[in-house]
Amino acid sequence: MRHLIDIMDLSIEELDEMIAVAKDIIADPEKYAHKCAGKKLATLFFEPSTRTRLSFEAAMYELGGNVLGFSEAQSSSAAKGESVADTIRTVGCYADIIAMRHPKEGAPIAGTRRSTVPVINAGDGGHNHPTQTLTDLLTISREKNRLDNLTIGLCGDLKFGRTVHSLINAMSRYPNNKFILISPDELRIPEYLKYETMIKKNLEFVETDDLENAMPELDILYMTRVQRERFFNEQDYLRLKDSYILTPDKLDNAKEDLSILHPLPRVNEISVAVDDDPRARYFEQVLNGKYIRMALILMLLEEAKRNPVPDWQKQ
Ligand code: NCD
Repeated sequence: MRHLIDIMDLSIEELDEMIAVAKDIIADPEKYAHKCAGKKLATLFFEPSTRTRLSFEAAMYELGGNVLGFSEAQSSSAAKGESVADTIRTVGCYADIIAMRHPKEGAPIAGTRRSTVPVINAGDGGHNHPTQTLTDLLTISREKNRLDNLTIGLCGDLKFGRTVHSLINAMSRYPNNKFILISPDELRIPEYLKYETMIKKNLEFVETDDLENAMPELDILYMTRVQRERFFNEQDYLRLKDSYILTPDKLDNAKEDLSILHPLPRVNEISVAVDDDPRARYFEQVLNGKYIRMALILMLLEEAKRNPVPDWQKQ
């Protein structure tokens, strides 16, 4: 059974294919309106979400399918002590595909071992968020017409921000991308990502705390919020939360064709005054999230059809 746990589970060819399908959906939504008729998507959200859960649900509806699920752990049997693996096994009896978000790193992998349906990681703790990365890739591809030869500034909480980790992994596979990692000292990217991906793969990157200095170079500015829920103490959060606040004046020396992205939700890190700047693309990014999830659901259901789980395994 094919799942999506990490963005690296997908080959470059599959990423490119999914982006192409998403663009085709945008061009001709009617063609896809019944592709998932009779199919059900379950959204199992053990952690808060607005965009990810609702875009998955909207995606399935727009494919002609149905959705079921829960949006907080307290309303599921997790509150009674059920394991993630048992919850997934159970939901696989009701749904054809599952999107799951969980606060614990690695929970989706643990949950998929005996799953009879495809499972999509919709965010696991501070670790990974592959479908946000698919959204980001589609957005960058639509904005820039390429995924290579870009200077990408990632700014904010690079330590706990799971979208940052998945995006670096994905963009590191396309040639000649340069990363400018802008964060306070305490919120730099995790060591494993720095050493096992960036240094090992010989990527071009700089770590800095200076957004204004980096600005003129950037093709993409990917802002992130400081991840309050992953801090060990509130004092540290309060000290670091407003490290970067993007205001219109800070864009004075930015490129004309800069794309400003943000996985959202934003807290303070982008002033609402920036929303009127044509370079602010984060709400287009939100919309792209629905289209790419449609493409992903189609791909995984297609694969599940080609490789059905034998009946004995379903027992
Ligand atoms: C992100 C997440 O959940 O990691 N949000 C999202 O899915 N669009 C970013 C965040 O919460 O800061």
